Amino acid sequence: MRRLTLPRRTPRLVLRDFTPEDFDGILAYSSDPRVTRHLFFGPRDADSTADYLESLLESQRETPRTRFELAVVEPDTRRVIGACDLSRIERGVFDLGYMLGTAHWGRGYATEIARALAEAAFLELRAARVISTVDVNNRASIHVLEKLGMRWEAVYRKHRRAKNRWWDCHLYVLPREVWEAERARGAPSPYEDSSPAG
Ligand SMILES: CC(C)(COP(=O)(O)OP(=O)(O)OC[C@H]1O[C@@H](n2cnc3c(N)ncnc32)[C@H](O)[C@@H]1OP(=O)(O)O)[C@@H](O)C(=O)NCCC(=O)NCCS
Repeated sequence: MRRLTLPRRTPRLVLRDFTPEDFDGILAYSSDPRVTRHLFFGPRDADSTADYLESLLESQRETPRTRFELAVVEPDTRRVIGACDLSRIERGVFDLGYMLGTAHWGRGYATEIARALAEAAFLELRAARVISTVDVNNRASIHVLEKLGMRWEAVYRKHRRAKNRWWDCHLYVLPREVWEAERARGAPSPYEDSSPAG
């Protein structure tokens, strides 16, 4: 399997591997119930944040590496404002995810991050498909996936039991051919932005 070049830049953000120093930044967004409302875990306390950080630092050392859980950083402040991930779930198939602290919602960041990750999956990890499963009530995230050109493929009733309830989830898929066709039509690439911040 090929490697992912890190860090990656989007027009306004940097996606890089987490380090042990990111503990406070992770705790700040993942302890917020508004952030974890549509996620299977959380809100996290200090102990579960420490476990999570330890497991993701361990995943960085895997060979071949199959899980790319990355810190989302604002370049000016160098603050970690969220996380995103690409995880290989089977040969050629990568699952995409993202979360941001609430202060950073509504600026198009998630769309920018998702575009950069999809591009990385197709160009560097040789993905045939990028997928995402999303809580049926997570309107903002569904909108991000649709802006990315992902297509609704199925609804999984009782997809998972977490936090004392069953979750219904949509499956969204971006096949390589669709992504390539969009790209050929000139859909924006996160690496082609010419703004001063890019
Ligand atoms: C989902 C999340 C990452 C979106 O981040 P973001 O940077 O605000 O997303 P963007 O600004 O790129 O796009 C969000 C879009 O959804 C729209 N939106 C936001 N809330 C919405 C709602 N309740 N209903 C419908 N659309 C909504 C926004 O208007 C925007 O669309 P637009 O660009 O056409 O105006 C952020 O809300 C978050 O971190 N949520 C908690 C974690 C999470 O649920 N992650 C997804 C797991 S699958």
